Order: sequence, then C-alpha cells, then structure tokens
Amino acid sequence: MKVGILTGGGDAPGINATLRAIVRKAIQDYGYETLGIKDGWRGLIEGDFVPLDLEDLAGMLPRGGSILGTTRTNPFKSEDGAKRILKNVSEHGVKAVIAIGGEDTLGVAYKLYEMGLPVVGVPKTIDNDLVGTDYTLGFQTAVAIACEALDRLHTTAEAHHRVIILEVMGRHTGWIALEAGIAGGADVILIPEKPFEIEEICECIRKRQKRGRNFSIIVAAEGAKQKGGEEIVYSSGVDEFGHARFGGVGYYIGKEIEKRFENIDTRAVVLGHLQRGGSPIAFDRVLATRFGIAAINLVHEGRFGEMVAIQGNAMVSVPLKEVVGKRKTVDLKLYEIAATFFG
Ligand code: F6P
Repeated sequence: MKVGILTGGGDAPGINATLRAIVRKAIQDYGYETLGIKDGWRGLIEGDFVPLDLEDLAGMLPRGGSILGTTRTNPFKSEDGAKRILKNVSEHGVKAVIAIGGEDTLGVAYKLYEMGLPVVGVPKTIDNDLVGTDYTLGFQTAVAIACEALDRLHTTAEAHHRVIILEVMGRHTGWIALEAGIAGGADVILIPEKPFEIEEICECIRKRQKRGRNFSIIVAAEGAKQKGGEEIVYSSGVDEFGHARFGGVGYYIGKEIEKRFENIDTRAVVLGHLQRGGSPIAFDRVLATRFGIAAINLVHEGRFGEMVAIQGNAMVSVPLKEVVGKRKTVDLKLYEIAATFFG
C-alpha cells in the first residue's frame, strides 16, 4: 500500500522525527511504500511527490524544519484544488494520506475526508491550540526556547533597570506566553484570552518598584490585545486561510509604559521564528515518535478521518470532525497561578 505524508502550515520542531517514525513503522512492520508530498497541500494539488525510504530519514530525529517543505496552500481557494487532489491520489495509487498540521491543514484534511480522501491527522503547531490533544507537536520546544530567552532577558533587564517585553508567538491563544511566563518568572503575562489595560501593567511595575525591584519582565503573546481593542498587525493582507500577520504588540506596550513613567527605559524583543527553528527538545522527540507510530497504526486499521492525540499520557485518537473549527484556549486556572507572581 502507498501512503503519502505531508506537512502543512507553520513548521514546528519534531516534524522530521514524526516522519522518521511513520516511515520506519510503515516499511519495516507493514511493508508499505511511503511517499513524501512536497510543500503541504500544494504538493498534492500538483502531484509533487518524492519517495521516502528508511535512508531518507536517517539522522532526522533531532533535525528541525520539514524535509518535505511546508506551505499555507489552501486547496479550497482555487476552483479545482480539491478535485485535482482526489485525481492525483487515485492516479498515483495513494491509498492513505497522513497530514501533519495545525488548524488549517487539519481543517482541509477533514473537508477532503468528507469528499472521500482516506486521511489521518497529526496535531502539529507550536501554538498548542488544537482541541482533543493535551499537547501539539513543537509546543514544548517553543516553551523551552522562550523560557531560556526570559532567563537571559532577566539578567540584562536587572543590570540596566529596564522593563523588557518579550513577544512570543500565539495568534489566538496564549499557551506559549503563559507556560514560558510561568517557567521564566514573568512579572506580567499578556494573552489573547485576557485583553489587557496598560494601567494594570503599570500597576505591576509600580508594585515592584515599591519592593525595590526596579526592573520588570513582561511576556506578551503576539495576539494579545487591549480591552476593547484589536490585535496589532505587522503587515496588511492575509494568507490563504484568512490569517493576518500579527506583530508589534511588544513595542506598543513599551512605548505606552514609557509615556506613563518618567524614568523607565523599555526594550521589546520579538522572539519570532527562533521558537520554531532548530532541534526539538526530548519531550517533542518522544511525542513525535509516538504520534508517528500512532498515525501509521490508524492507517493500518483503516481508521481514517481521525487525528492522533495525547490525553493524560495516553496515545488516543479523536475524530477530525471534533477538532476542526474549534480552538483550545489556555486554562484560566493556570493563568491564575501565573498571576500570583504578577507585580
Ligand atoms: O505556527 C503558528 C504560528 O506560530 C503563529 O503563532 C504565528 O502567527 C504564525 O505561525 C507565523 O507564521 P509565519 O511567519 O510562518 O506565517
């Protein structure tokens, strides 16, 4: 049996480790043939495939990025995108597709499944915002990178008596900001789920000043917004799934703080794609391996239209239908814990 694998959307540390697990199990235990589909749904629309053999995946466990390439191509943006996918799949004798992706990639996977594509999903996004799974691939690595950045920013902020704002990814949810903020001892954490007021941030800074702490560290998710306000966008225009590019909330907050204090110097740091590039931490390598094996097992059992997931520490699967069109927002109880340390 021929199994096609694709990676769509933003990359995340651990993709190649997932490919390695799928290919190893598929070839070694099931005798399948594995095909790499280049650049997400684009490769399936255009029939751009490469053979994936055991040797192609050698050394891939720690490697970042995606050896298949990834794009934000939406087949439903063009009139015949979905039709071409179904035609290519049947012409190339592909009997199953494993789609590794986030909300957009898996949304497309579900629509195509409804149209007859035998597809299985693997949850991958550093944003950790997919429902049905406790963790998505790459999230823990992003948190570890953001936490290390916070440790480094602490020492320089303290030495210069500054307020430093670290802007992390998280368009609609503040998972990275929240977990990295707790781990990195942030004095304020701003997330999309809890619109902020500049005055509240200033109050935290004043509280710290009263305790003789004349520096502060703020973590802001890129999608954090003021009460009654909008997200700050970096550039106009949207991608094929209608997403704007967020960015700049850190600078905005810094300037607003400076307006309200006479002697406070602020700096904003945008962590950006450093959170996505490079090696996965051990947690994500293990998760990738478990997800990969679970995904090919679903294929073997003919359980299409499902996504592998981790719940508790168990590998489970959930119907894509229950995943798409929803968003897993942060646990507000965890935010309360974080808030104990604000100011
Ligand atoms: O992978 C999801 C995400 O990290 C979002 O948090 C972020 O807004 C987006 O990707 C940015 O991705 P890109 O720069 O590749 O469009």
